[in-house]
Amino acid sequence: MTGNSQPRILAADAAGVVEAAGVLRSGGLVAVPTETVYGLAARADSDAAVAAIYRAKGRPDFNPLIVHVADLTAGEQLALFDERARRLAVAFWPGALTMVLPRRADAPLAGAVTAGLPTVALRCPAHPAMRAVLAETGLALAAPSANRSGAVSPTTAHHVAVSLGDKVDRILDGGSCEAGIESTIVALREDSGWHILRPGPITEEAIRSILGEGSGAGPAEGPIEAPGQLASHYAPGKPVRLDAASAAEDEFHIGFEGVAGDLNLSPSGDLAEAAANLYRALHEAARDERPRVAVAPIPGTAIGAAINDRLRRAAA
Ligand code: TXA
Ligand code: MG
Repeated sequence: MTGNSQPRILAADAAGVVEAAGVLRSGGLVAVPTETVYGLAARADSDAAVAAIYRAKGRPDFNPLIVHVADLTAGEQLALFDERARRLAVAFWPGALTMVLPRRADAPLAGAVTAGLPTVALRCPAHPAMRAVLAETGLALAAPSANRSGAVSPTTAHHVAVSLGDKVDRILDGGSCEAGIESTIVALREDSGWHILRPGPITEEAIRSILGEGSGAGPAEGPIEAPGQLASHYAPGKPVRLDAASAAEDEFHIGFEGVAGDLNLSPSGDLAEAAANLYRALHEAARDERPRVAVAPIPGTAIGAAINDRLRRAAA
């Protein structure tokens, strides 16, 4: 089904959800809105459908995908939840938290979803259109961000159409993503330690308030803990300079708070607002005729940790 010259952009109303669900059930690719970024969804139990995701994104096949589930019960069909995982699900699902958990031996998941790892990354999303699609299909849906591998993640249906236009069967248009930055990924260790593999909208402090202190140590060495956290990612396709209080003439300047810039992520210095606007700003910087990008300093507190993580990768 993939390879259409123009995907149909569907309104996220009842008819759009039913059509999107039908395409997904028959193994197609649908770009779906979530509260973080748009995802490129396919049924997680089909080798062919999951292979189509990797093909459309041009994604290296060692990088596993996040699986989206309707609720905790659906999640428990796929992974083993210990008591800590259940506490996190109760506290933050539906929402922008992804948990890396031991995969159930009998989980109906295509092998490529987990790229051969013994773990699976699960998230229960909050966006009403995505929840409606999950309910209508009755399936678990694998969905990485709906952009070409390494490029800036999409926060509008238009971003998806520009980046993957001819490679998806449908785009479900649910408006701009509210959080604007990918989910927090947390790995739970068997020894009761935990750590964050990717900072995001759910802050480390929020997770600590549920689980207590983590192990303190960073991610363990090796391919299991942090595949896909590649240094160069989210790249607008031109050099990016960080902590820039002012910009040169050949730089598109992304501002924050008092640093006006060509475009300001949040004139009032609100970090959640800045996160919501970050990828739109990087998309605009990519389109701008100036050959370079400069970004104002942004505090690393709360969701600012996730913003700075993405900016460092964009600049790498
Ligand atoms: O907000 C989000 O999480 C978005 C929306 C669409 O839900 N999805 C997203 O997916 O950002 P993606 O594929 O772009 O990022 C998935 C990340 C990658 O860094 C991957 O390496 C990591 O999750 N990951 C997936 N499975 C893993 C596993 N079993 N162990 C460790 N990391 C894993
Ligand atoms: Mg991504």
